[in-house]
Amino acid sequence: MKLTLSLIKADVGSIGGHTRPSERMLDVVRKEVAAAIKKKLLIDGFVSHTGDDIAIVMSHTHGEGADPIHKFAWNAFIKAADVAKKFGLYGAGQDLLVDAPSGNLRGAGPAVAEIEFEHALKSPRAAESFMVFAADKCGPGAYNLPLCLCFADPMYCAGLMLPQMIKGFRFHIIDMDNTEGDSLIQLDAPEDAYKIAALLRDNERFAIDRIESRTYGFTAASISAHRLHNISGKYSGKDDPIAIVRNQGIFPAPEEIVLPFAKVHYVGGDARGSHVMPLMPVALNTPVAGVYCLPIISCIGFSVDRAGHFSDQYIDFFGDVAWDDARLRAQQKALEMRAQGWSGAAMLPYAELEYSGFRDTVTGLVNRFKYREEKGGKGKKK
Ligand code: 13P
Ligand code: MG
Ligand code: MG
Repeated sequence: MKLTLSLIKADVGSIGGHTRPSERMLDVVRKEVAAAIKKKLLIDGFVSHTGDDIAIVMSHTHGEGADPIHKFAWNAFIKAADVAKKFGLYGAGQDLLVDAPSGNLRGAGPAVAEIEFEHALKSPRAAESFMVFAADKCGPGAYNLPLCLCFADPMYCAGLMLPQMIKGFRFHIIDMDNTEGDSLIQLDAPEDAYKIAALLRDNERFAIDRIESRTYGFTAASISAHRLHNISGKYSGKDDPIAIVRNQGIFPAPEEIVLPFAKVHYVGGDARGSHVMPLMPVALNTPVAGVYCLPIISCIGFSVDRAGHFSDQYIDFFGDVAWDDARLRAQQKALEMRAQGWSGAAMLPYAELEYSGFRDTVTGLVNRFKYREEKGGKGKKK
């Protein structure tokens, strides 16, 4: 059977500032998911939050980009936004950027990551298991470094040296500066590794869209890579990317996938979406409460049975005590960076502030610059 995993998330309102959605909002979305399972639109579904973003992970047979699935998620988010409005919550409906999307939600505000695959449950996938990542207060390229290290560097993923992975992985990389449409390049690791790095070093412009096994042609990972300000034309919240990553067997194992996140690498995002701060691994359903809304990321794992149902329990990878040290280091790195306030590397480059009020402030001042009056000087205006 062809099975699709769809992960769709949106910020549609939160309590006491941009911290977390309310339980009432989550309940509404859970009820919608239960009704969709009953109606057989979905095989299974699971609702959670990471910071102020609600994520719905679904299994179904409608394929990627399917209208009924995307419409369903949109309507569930509308209902949660109505609850947020009713109770006066902050940012009600924030990520629902268009009036009524035609169907597919790509370009409408919510983030989407999907993988369709032959759910054979026999060789080479005798069992299906996958991980769901969700990041908050964070730019679109947050997965560039960790997923590149996992899928292209045996220092992080020794599994790459095994026969089922030694041919490497194909990276589909999107140029988010191209707003005419989705503009992608395919590069193959290991031979294109330096070219992949040359693009992925720029977390604000290039992002991994998809990673495929070169041996089997199967998709290993799908990442939501878009910039909200490209859609709305102004700063309307941070991109807060999500990802689905299949694991084990012909793909890296969970421990190989999570290892690079122990770096707590610096990403764009944070307060007013305009700073550079470390990405802190957190338990699922964690609110944003740290200093300067430190970017956070959750990671959970599910198995999938023959009929496409999720396991009745999930593993909360980053919720484990094993990640306490990473959390502490993230906060130390955060305070080090915050110690230099607005200076240089602590804030995103000017181009990334383009649609925010910071840009307006600077532009207003730039217009007031005048050449120095100097006798015979080079800069003298005629
Ligand atoms: P969200 O996109 O999570 O609402 O964050 C916006 C922001 O600017 C944080 O300071
Ligand atoms: Mg928000
Ligand atoms: Mg958010």
